Amino acid sequence: MAPSRSTIHSETIFIIDFGSQYSHLIARRVREQNVYCEIIPHTTSWESIGSNSPKGIILSGGPASVYDDNSPRAPEWVWEKGIPVLGICYGMQLMAHQLGGKVLPATEREFGHAILNQNSGDNLLFSELPDSLPVWMSHADRISQTPPDFHPIGNSENSPIAAMSNGNSMYGIQFHPEVAHTPNGSQIIDNFLRKICHCEGLWTAGNFITESIQRIKTQVKNGKVICALSGGVDSSVTAALIHEAIGKQLHCVFVDNGLMRLEEPERVINVFNRNLDIQIIHSKSASLFLSDLKGVTDPEQKRMIIGKRFIKVFEDEATKLGKVDFLAQGTLYPDVIESETAESGTSAKIKTHHNVGGLPEHMELELVEPLRYLFKDEVRKIGLGLGLPEEMVFRQPFPGPGLAIRIMGEVTENKLNTLRLSDWVVMDEIKNNNLYNELWQSFAVLLETRTVGVMGDERTYGNVVAIRAVTSEDAMTSDWARIPNDVLAKMSNRIVNEVPNATRVVYDITSKPPGTIEWE
Ligand code: XMP
Repeated sequence: MAPSRSTIHSETIFIIDFGSQYSHLIARRVREQNVYCEIIPHTTSWESIGSNSPKGIILSGGPASVYDDNSPRAPEWVWEKGIPVLGICYGMQLMAHQLGGKVLPATEREFGHAILNQNSGDNLLFSELPDSLPVWMSHADRISQTPPDFHPIGNSENSPIAAMSNGNSMYGIQFHPEVAHTPNGSQIIDNFLRKICHCEGLWTAGNFITESIQRIKTQVKNGKVICALSGGVDSSVTAALIHEAIGKQLHCVFVDNGLMRLEEPERVINVFNRNLDIQIIHSKSASLFLSDLKGVTDPEQKRMIIGKRFIKVFEDEATKLGKVDFLAQGTLYPDVIESETAESGTSAKIKTHHNVGGLPEHMELELVEPLRYLFKDEVRKIGLGLGLPEEMVFRQPFPGPGLAIRIMGEVTENKLNTLRLSDWVVMDEIKNNNLYNELWQSFAVLLETRTVGVMGDERTYGNVVAIRAVTSEDAMTSDWARIPNDVLAKMSNRIVNEVPNATRVVYDITSKPPGTIEWE
């Protein structure tokens, strides 16, 4: 069970989501000002919020028109509780429409750069900003008359009322302050948070760790917690945080599935034992996974087999521990937003996350998810704050099914060895050339194809290795990385020379979409 909203933080902003693709960006901008915020569906009732009312409310944009049948509305409590409100784009139109102003149905869209001219002298939202500023517009309908008690505070060429206020604590803006194309956007959000909502900015890594430890203690009491550790940043930070709270009541299981990179299992175990004094159950289960995978060539089949075996191994280890009460998971906020907005029906579900593992249902364990409301960069800050080494905190993502989905066709020991050595060379050169932190992921892929080559005076006939390196913000889209040619040349040369059976190297220049990051 996730912690209830009211226990999260004393200084909270709610972002009410109307299906904007930018809602998570609003959340990012608020958190950057050290203010805690949550995105909530527009159907949220006042009762479900609990006793801690928010310091402010932001109404997001959205694709609807207030005139559409069944277009989403802000709940009435938004206007009734005296809480400061900032309506952005559709959020502003709702503010006008629901409070008695007029919204003009669209004759044309206003999309792109615009200049906002302030026209009300002093107002807190635009304080310390120039009289005219570049903003980003993306709307169809616009306001033709403010609600009673409101007045315009800004206009643009196509929107005579591009910003409005009731002179108290309600503001509407037609443009998007959350996107980079509105250069003063962060200042506007900061003004709303500090000058209008009177937030102090208490959301820091240090405070989060202290509060979170307290919450975990309250939730777990004397219970026993089990955590599947993969060596990735999310599960590592989860384990480190819970360990800080409850020490030896936490039991970590590291399942070595035989599909990891060169020396990876040893490194993960070492980091945890050395840096954190967390005892880890090291389940050496490679032979089980490899025998399950014998003869299997279909990528989805591989994932399913690995996932199933993982749960079995994890369960067996848990059984050995006797009665376990809680399962710790490194769920992050983007996953929560995705599933919550999909549930509330305001935006399409973009992608389901395919993590290996998950909760063995019949074990009936309660969830402990201390990172549930954090973004990845916040998780990294918490990791550093907890003393995790940088090599772990800034580690590139690695898929649960591991090298199995980077070997085309059947997974065998021989192929795993070829891929491990090739991957090592790729990573070595990426790190030697200081490219590691610039890339979302970089790795080698082993193809089934064999090609002819020549080495010395001899003909060779061996495997093709592909190098994949991508840049990305969040793995939903990515671009192939423009790695310098001489670095690629060095990798190619080393792979062919150092890896038995690898005779040809290619570089993958496919973006996502249409490709995916992994080859399978
Ligand atoms: P794709 O290949 O879908 O990958 O573009 C997006 C991100 O997800 C990772 N990935 C996985 N992670 N289990 C995982 O835990 C999987 O089955 C899986 N498949 C892809 C991939 O490495 C990239 O970061």
